[in-house]
Amino acid sequence: MTGKVLSVASECAPLLKTGGLADVVGALPGALGQQGWDMRVLMPAYRSIALPGARALWATDDLFGGPAQVLPLTVDGAQILLLDAPHLFDRPGGPYSVDGADHIDNPERFAALSWAASQIARHGLSDGWQPDILHAHDWQAGLAPAYLAYGGPTGVRSIMTIHNIAFQGIAPAAQLGALRLPAAEFHADALEYYGQISTLKAGLITADAITTVSPTYADELMRPEFGMGMEGVIAARASRLHGILNGVDTDIWNPETDPAIARPYGPRTLKRKADNRAALMQEFGLSDVTGPLAIVVSRLTDQKGIDLILAALPDFIVAGGGLAVLGTGDPALEAALARAAAQFPGRVGLHIGYDEALAHRMFAGGDAVLVPSRFEPCGLTQMYGLRYGTLPVVAATGGLADTVITANAAALDAGSATGITFHPTDALALSQALRRLAGVYADPARWAALQRQAMRQRVDWTTSSAAYATLYRTLLT
Ligand code: ADP
Ligand code: GLC
Repeated sequence: MTGKVLSVASECAPLLKTGGLADVVGALPGALGQQGWDMRVLMPAYRSIALPGARALWATDDLFGGPAQVLPLTVDGAQILLLDAPHLFDRPGGPYSVDGADHIDNPERFAALSWAASQIARHGLSDGWQPDILHAHDWQAGLAPAYLAYGGPTGVRSIMTIHNIAFQGIAPAAQLGALRLPAAEFHADALEYYGQISTLKAGLITADAITTVSPTYADELMRPEFGMGMEGVIAARASRLHGILNGVDTDIWNPETDPAIARPYGPRTLKRKADNRAALMQEFGLSDVTGPLAIVVSRLTDQKGIDLILAALPDFIVAGGGLAVLGTGDPALEAALARAAAQFPGRVGLHIGYDEALAHRMFAGGDAVLVPSRFEPCGLTQMYGLRYGTLPVVAATGGLADTVITANAAALDAGSATGITFHPTDALALSQALRRLAGVYADPARWAALQRQAMRQRVDWTTSSAAYATLYRTLLT
């Protein structure tokens, strides 16, 4: 049995991306399509997205303060539904903020997205398409299952997927009416969250099933140190929680065919990777790196543990290591990285910004990718690292713990190791992991064996899309 799914999110690659959420939302229609599921993605028509000249499939005169319509668009085979509501989405800045400050009407903007989703789920589109399942992603879509539940009985089932519990969609209690939420539901077992509204909690409470993007993060979410206040809500619904690991697009992330890199290579032509390394060293102005060349491609935020890299850096440099960083985010972290690049010329290179093609060149040219996250629901870059034989050095948390097999004695013996994990997430443990990395790097045969094992590891969507399909089926029977 298969059916139709409305996926609802604030970003979807390649139309708009600020992080891994967009990659996953963009990949699911194709991955689920292979399982026979017909998925459409509803997302806002931000200013940067060119509106298609198509006929509207849904319209309203008043979506939280202005007219709105839904326009269909096919991108890379995926069916996108653009929510065109100029009063909410046609404005300067990014999807969530402008000049570093959140758009002040974010609660209304994403309530509008969620409202439209719930209406489409309940009544269908004008072309006759009506989903069997409403699949909401993160706080921006959290009210979609809630509106569906509060609107009265329906055969449509709902799923709330947590990509990152740190973002909870908080709005003042006084906005309850303005957000079209029932006052009777403002209590601790429903919408109320420490005196305010949380749109994520609304979704978690009302959805028929909850998923998150790795099995380990699913377990972690029930602990105070990871649940960020939601641990009780999640534990109370533990029987409906599923950890389904993300995949990556193995066509886009394929070192044998990647058009962005200096020289394609594969597990049997690993020597060619050296040309990519040389090109990357030159691009970042690096020289004298006798040990492993580590890369970082990341949002620069506290979550990602960038400060730990800075703390571990001097020892790594002494051991011959080099570092190339691509990222953007917290100005303090950007400045600290710039200081490190100035302190270690020829050994540390930095590119502040967002650059997809450069990211590809870095995975092709690096020896190792560092992901020392304090928490990581899934993480995608460690999987790119596996694909490119760029060994992941990761904190043993969330999806990082689920995707990297650490090079301990047993795993090396069994030939199953694919990288290095460390625990706890602190500078000492990272330093020790980097020392181990340099040790393995000094043994070329062992290093190459690890690279080949990493490149063999399955990181595509096959297993995960089957798990989503099974969950969808379970909900509909
Ligand atoms: P998160 O979603 O928490 O940022 P993920 O690892 O799931 O972490 O996804 C991040 C995605 O964004 C990856 O595809 C990564 O390559 C990409 N990315 C992050 N920063 C940059 C950057 N500065 N330039 C290019 N791509 C980036
Ligand atoms: C979030 C998480 C990241 C995950 C991504 C896609 O941004 O921080 O770990 O990979 O969502 O699910």
